Amino acid sequence: MKICCIGAGYVGGPTMAVIAMKCPDVRVDVVDINKKRIDAWNSDSLPVFEPGLDAVVRAVRGKNLFFSTDVAGAVSAADIVFISVNTPTKTYGVGAGRASELKYVEACARQIADVSTTDKIVVEKSTMPVRTADVIRQILSSCDSGVKFQVLSNPEFLAEGTAVKDLENPDRVLIGGDDKTAEGRAAIKTLAGLYARWVDPKRIIETNLWSSELSKLTANAFLAQRISSINAISALCEATGADVDEVAAAVGADSRIGPKFLKSSVGFGGSCFQKDLLNLVYLCEHFNLPEAARYWQNVLDMNAYQKRRFAAWVVKDLFGSLSGKKIAVFGFSFKENTNDTRESPAIDVCRNLLSEGAKLAIYDPKVSQEQIYSDLNIGEEKIPGDGGVEICSSPYEASKDSYAITVLTAWGEFACLDYVKIYKTMKKPAWIFDGRNCLDGDLLRRLGYRVRAVGKSFE
Ligand code: UDX
Ligand code: UDX
Repeated sequence: MKICCIGAGYVGGPTMAVIAMKCPDVRVDVVDINKKRIDAWNSDSLPVFEPGLDAVVRAVRGKNLFFSTDVAGAVSAADIVFISVNTPTKTYGVGAGRASELKYVEACARQIADVSTTDKIVVEKSTMPVRTADVIRQILSSCDSGVKFQVLSNPEFLAEGTAVKDLENPDRVLIGGDDKTAEGRAAIKTLAGLYARWVDPKRIIETNLWSSELSKLTANAFLAQRISSINAISALCEATGADVDEVAAAVGADSRIGPKFLKSSVGFGGSCFQKDLLNLVYLCEHFNLPEAARYWQNVLDMNAYQKRRFAAWVVKDLFGSLSGKKIAVFGFSFKENTNDTRESPAIDVCRNLLSEGAKLAIYDPKVSQEQIYSDLNIGEEKIPGDGGVEICSSPYEASKDSYAITVLTAWGEFACLDYVKIYKTMKKPAWIFDGRNCLDGDLLRRLGYRVRAVGKSFE
């Protein structure tokens, strides 16, 4: 069997590497139009940082896993083609700011139609709006080569930072297909058979196409909703003296609620939550369900509020002015253990602090200077009056002479720093704003810091 995946991103790369490792007799070709990205996948410095990924890629690359820009060649040879290209939020035209941009998916479908001479199963891996499979199907079925295609939806549920673990041991694998025809059911069985090499068949869920597409959006919306819910409670905790971690633990102990995804934070980020929620809001509006649309929009509004609230603390506690003050930023990625900054709350918080005149000193163990500059538009539209951005190679350098430390990503190393040493190098009063509740606030207070943390009372 030959598999091809179009799109060598955060989803396509790790997913295919794990499939190649688990199925040594299957040839897996990962193709992408971005040559720089493919070159990186073929080098010692992979474009995606994921714990455990280097070892998997090293074990199978050049054996049954290949990265190239030869999209047509790999698609034409494959039995199964995964589409894993990006589906960003549309920035123009109908649905701008909410609907997903499907031009890359459409281009993939057209290319598959053009180059195929043998029957294929085409799998939507990217998160798509409900009924996208229909678009792919229409394009594929309108080609007159006589080639037969089956379209499946097989959304990916991996979370960045734990991608390899999630792929090796998924809670479930979801496969949606045309369950009304024998060919459709056969295609579902073929893909299910591939996963069954390492996933317990009881965890492989088969549904119709639309249920599969909508389940992916719904899963992300529910996860995001839990974070916004606990973040709404965090504001109340700060006002009342309750502790958000204690509330989350008590609430999460109810087996009907469960303990996961109740960590209050400066806000959620990542490539999926915002995009998928916007997409869900758009779908609800499209089907004339304004109340349902408003419900999901509130999850996003709460996230924006949490980021604004955090930045406002810094301004207020530093006597209402950040003009010319150095502020250390610990962490820039949207979560720990990834170099991905898409929709990172750090972007909004930093822009907000810069607009108050702050001078930012940013340290992140994995995000490059180039990426931070591009996310903050440094060198493009300069924020009037900002004090500039300096990228630091250690948290010690970032915090030296700063008025405050803002913790925006919960990288493990931040809990193990020498805060006695840091305190001595900072301006006084020395502030720490913990946007991830990952530091020991009581200990820091004993060392002399003033500490504000999400969902904790300030004392
Ligand atoms: C993307 C989507 O963002 C997500 O919604 C979906 O679930 C999976 O695909 P990700 O892998 O994180 O997630 O995206 P990204 O890292 O941007 O990778 C997409 C890749 O597709 C890029 O490398 C891009 O060059 C490539 N691409 C895009 C193509 O090869 N061909 C195209 O026509 C368009
Ligand atoms: C998410 C989904 O978890 C995954 O199933 C889907 O395939 C893609 O989208 P990802 O965005 O990679 O994965 O990471 P996730 O762990 O979900 O974190 C998203 C954001 O929420 C991060 O900014 C994280 O810091 C934040 N978060 C997460 C919280 O603030 N609190 C929590 O309790 C959990």
